[in-house]
Amino acid sequence: MRVCVVGGAGYVGLVTGVGLALLGHEVMCVDVNSTRVEELENGNSPIQEEGLEPVLAELLQRGKIRFTTSIETGIEQAEIVFIAVATPSLPDGGTDSSHAVTVARDLARLIHRYTVVAVKSTMPVETLDQLDSVLKERLIPGKQFDLVSNPEFLREGRGLRDFFRPDRIVVGSDSEPAFSVMRQVYQPLIDGSAELPEAFRTDTPIPYLETTPSTAQMIKYASNAFLATRISFINEIAGLCQRLNADVGAVVEGLGLDPRIGKAYLQPGIGFGGPCLEKDLTALVRLAQDNNYDPVLLDSVLQRNHLQLIEVQNKLINGMGPSPVGKTVAVLGLAFKEGTNDVRNSLALRLMKDLADSGATVHGHDPLAIPEAEEQFQDATYFENVYEALAGVDAAVVLNSVAEYRDLDLERVAATMKDGLLVDVRGVLNSGDVLSHGLRYDSIG
Ligand SMILES: NC(=O)c1ccc[n+]([C@@H]2O[C@H](COP(=O)([O-])OP(=O)(O)OC[C@H]3O[C@@H](n4cnc5c(N)ncnc54)[C@H](O)[C@@H]3O)[C@@H](O)[C@H]2O)c1
Repeated sequence: MRVCVVGGAGYVGLVTGVGLALLGHEVMCVDVNSTRVEELENGNSPIQEEGLEPVLAELLQRGKIRFTTSIETGIEQAEIVFIAVATPSLPDGGTDSSHAVTVARDLARLIHRYTVVAVKSTMPVETLDQLDSVLKERLIPGKQFDLVSNPEFLREGRGLRDFFRPDRIVVGSDSEPAFSVMRQVYQPLIDGSAELPEAFRTDTPIPYLETTPSTAQMIKYASNAFLATRISFINEIAGLCQRLNADVGAVVEGLGLDPRIGKAYLQPGIGFGGPCLEKDLTALVRLAQDNNYDPVLLDSVLQRNHLQLIEVQNKLINGMGPSPVGKTVAVLGLAFKEGTNDVRNSLALRLMKDLADSGATVHGHDPLAIPEAEEQFQDATYFENVYEALAGVDAAVVLNSVAEYRDLDLERVAATMKDGLLVDVRGVLNSGDVLSHGLRYDSIG
């Protein structure tokens, strides 16, 4: 099929475009970010995703995917248009739908044959209705267009694998012709006929759910709210473990062995940051309030997340002595999670800002995300080498569980740090080893 992905140089858009092209479709990715479009035309991905660049190079060579800043060119031949633009939070917690509305206005002007408009962006059903109204101003529903909700569940860092081996595909629509087009789009994935590289193949059947648009969006919001709840839950349990002398690592193991619970998203840490969980949970809280429903549980999940950042900050500040003024802290792990260069809403950057505001000097290190962090936060010194980041510091905090931190040469760390406080938020270090090198150790739980 001929597919257009609007927002096709972003995380979701690019993975969707590359994934659909690999399934055999002809893909045009449209994006307003001309720098990214140019990079992508040359086969360079602005986002770090495992396995993406080689696949992209091959698809470009075969002419299966193209990038453009022109929506006119992008949708000229398209039978289906995916919208994958950002839907950030508004200051009141609501959803900023302005990018999606701009796209809908363009589509209303440009669509000239029956086209399915599939929304990948996460948005409340009210916003979907808003897009529908914009399209209806110029186009006849059911005849010239159908609007579909097709929420995305990919995890950054393993986005392509998630595209090809999704836990489920959810399609929300009120129109049978639109369902039929969506089935054609995903058919090579569902029936296993797509010729995929070994790493992306799966024999496991992929659940394919067809629902109404509002149910589809609620599946997305409920999924993220549940994941956030697990994170806040285990962070609260970790805080209790520390106060009651219990080992949270062993508690997680014991909890996770219960098949009704499982281990996923039960690692204590600094809390949930990143581009989705907090934004989507805040949007859900806002939706509940707008509909006169009191979201007590969801509110508490957000509150625990806020307190968790303060807990990490206090461990550092109290551990360094009466005042952070004149002290230096190394923050290891700047992306919102390991395996990506995405620092959007990264709690590491919030922590760095809070530390700098309280008078500390801040060093930053990350294996992938230094340029992105530098762009967002300039009041720190960044180091490519982790031992250089640790040189002369009073304390260091490990926020991501990459191998580089797990395998730190503690002898070198002890020799290079000024004072030896290591706050191991992700539990990647062996406390006994750390202490035996004359360093001080603190953790969550
Ligand atoms: N990032 C994730 O892990 C993830 C996972 C699931 C769902 N989502 C949802 O997917 C959506 C996109 O998220 P993202 O992380 O990919 O965002 P992103 O910021 O990485 O990508 C959005 C892209 O849209 C482009 N854009 C904005 N306005 C445009 C316009 N008018 N025309 C063409 N392009 C335009 C931007 O230049 C950008 O490249 C959001 O709703 C998000 O909540 C994201």
